[in-house]
Amino acid sequence: MNDSKDPLLLDHEVDGIKELDNNLPRWWVWLFYITTAYAVVYMVYYHAMGAGDLMVAEYDKEMAVGESIKSAAIARFESSIDSASPSTDPVVIARGQQIFATTCAPCHGVQGQGIVGSNLTDDYWIHGSTFQDSLRTIYNGVPEKGMISWKDSLKPDQILASASYIYTLRGTNPPNPKPPENQQQPASDEPSPFE
Ligand code: HEC
Repeated sequence: MNDSKDPLLLDHEVDGIKELDNNLPRWWVWLFYITTAYAVVYMVYYHAMGAGDLMVAEYDKEMAVGESIKSAAIARFESSIDSASPSTDPVVIARGQQIFATTCAPCHGVQGQGIVGSNLTDDYWIHGSTFQDSLRTIYNGVPEKGMISWKDSLKPDQILASASYIYTLRGTNPPNPKPPENQQQPASDEPSPFE
């Protein structure tokens, strides 16, 4: 051990470990002052004066804005159902096919031939055969029969796309079709799109 003692050396020691009383780096000290001052301002502004929204209130406000955008979109969709017609845009149909393959095919069959869900390719419909009927059935579901309502999990344009896609399945005669069960034929004034 050196006899000339470092003037910064403090006079305690633990297991041979000693401490030098160095000055803290200036940047560190400034950071400390600034964050302390910021904390005081923050506390006065948000907690003492209650002038700004705390995180929960801010979140609630953003959620309310989001909800109003969503309900406006849903209202627009609901009011457009009656006048909607199936899209023939290949991009929309491809999107609908993708949605169908992942969300609908487990019940309706990959080709729409019907498994638990009904056959979507024949002329027999339980809930009406028009495009609007399909939109309504997909939107509201038939929960008591096992057809879920999709209004909360699919966006309006996804419902339009999947309904447009299943419209293209009509008359495709896939193998192993599910036979009609108590289903009605389309009203005679409803022309088949394949005639
Ligand atoms: C969990 C199984 C299940 C899933 C998933 C499902 N469906 Fe259904 N769907 C059914 C059942 C069961 C029926 C028949 C309801 C009845 O008997 O009243 C049905 C009926 C329908 C009908 C009316 C058919 C008719 O004869 O009137 C349409 C249209 C339809 N589904 C479209 C879809 C679309 C599009 C999807 C995917 C977004 C989908 N379904 C997903 C089970 C399902």
